[in-house]
Amino acid sequence: MMSAKVYPAQSFNYKSDAIAADKSISHRCALFAVLAEGESKIENFLRAEDTLNTLKIIGQLGAEIRDNGSVITIRSNGIHETSEILDCGNSGTGMRLFCGLLSSAEGHFILTGDEYLKRRPMKRVTQPLRAIGAKLDGRENGDLAPLSIRGASLKAFNYESKVASAQVKSAMILAALRSDGVCTFREPELSRDHTERMLVGMGAHIERNALETKIWPLEKLLTPLSIRVPADPSSAFFFAVAAAITPNSSMIIEGVTLNPTRIEAFKVLERMGADIRYDLISEKYEPIGNITVKYAPLKAVVVSENIAWLIDELPALSIAMACAEGKSSIRNAQELRVKESDRIKTVVDNLNLCGIITEEYPDGYCVMGGKLHSAIVNSHGDHRIAMSFCIAGLRCGMDVEDIECINTSFPNFFELLTQCTKVKL
Ligand code: S3P
Repeated sequence: MMSAKVYPAQSFNYKSDAIAADKSISHRCALFAVLAEGESKIENFLRAEDTLNTLKIIGQLGAEIRDNGSVITIRSNGIHETSEILDCGNSGTGMRLFCGLLSSAEGHFILTGDEYLKRRPMKRVTQPLRAIGAKLDGRENGDLAPLSIRGASLKAFNYESKVASAQVKSAMILAALRSDGVCTFREPELSRDHTERMLVGMGAHIERNALETKIWPLEKLLTPLSIRVPADPSSAFFFAVAAAITPNSSMIIEGVTLNPTRIEAFKVLERMGADIRYDLISEKYEPIGNITVKYAPLKAVVVSENIAWLIDELPALSIAMACAEGKSSIRNAQELRVKESDRIKTVVDNLNLCGIITEEYPDGYCVMGGKLHSAIVNSHGDHRIAMSFCIAGLRCGMDVEDIECINTSFPNFFELLTQCTKVKL
């Protein structure tokens, strides 16, 4: 098990175009290329464990993949049965989206993952997919991986999801594209919408109206993707918090998606007092631009809305809350319990170890801003917990144990952290 020792940082002013590429969009590039006729060209694909696993799986299913080091080219050959077990590693997105894609493919497929993924709930996709004819199974009546899928013909649906989850929505959209009629998917709150944007860009007939998405079955294969994957706002956010809690510091994050369903955490940091600017530069599939974050003394905030738009940033936001004046709270975030770790528990326990007073709720927690103390904390195998507490270390010094998981989403995290803050590790 590897650990990192992070030392307190001096002020810094840094500009980076090297933040990890967007994980959600990279997964989708690989998966959606399978539905296209011709060659998809993907620049800046995220070369991290989660997304490389997805890429490997589409290769195992028959796609031809070429990689010249900067552009990945994918040519689909349809989906073929394989003798290999398809290993999604740590990725819930990979596993849930493959459930949607493979439910209608000809053949039998086995999806598995690492010890953490095998504990995460899959019923949220297996149940609605089974209801339209998919033949999916797994432990605990289809809730836990390994999952087995035998492709079947799928019926058109009208489904109302109880969770605001882009993974559920995307799995159902993928199923809808190969079902026997027009389908409707409704969600309680808008979740990230990369799937809809990208598939519409590839020629799929999808209509969106507030929380309702209508999907028409594909009449022909899609137009291949031609995309440069933007930087991941969830990865960028660690550096946004670093600048926001380090006096006289600033950070410019270049080429990041400015999709409103992804930058809500920056808006909350702004409400806390940080000085943040958004500059739109281009738009293809997604709005893309730069985000500038400057230090300012932070004040407490209550976060209880648009939770799906900042769910992945809540651990890092909690570090900003610990450095703010007053009592902050996060509510309606019960989804945190079923992420790569139970993030309500892992955030609260680790903040307590750093001397911060917290209170745990079933659907969130509160954080009393105070003085962070150096501590030995553990990531519990969760990349976002590991990176959040490294950022806390910029204030007070920190030993973070079990940091290998950072490779699932942000392999150059420490390189950037040392370059930007000049902090020793
Ligand atoms: C993701 C959706 C979110 C997010 C995850 C990535 C995606 O999960 O937390 O990191 O790419 O669709 P849910 O769909 O479970 O909300």
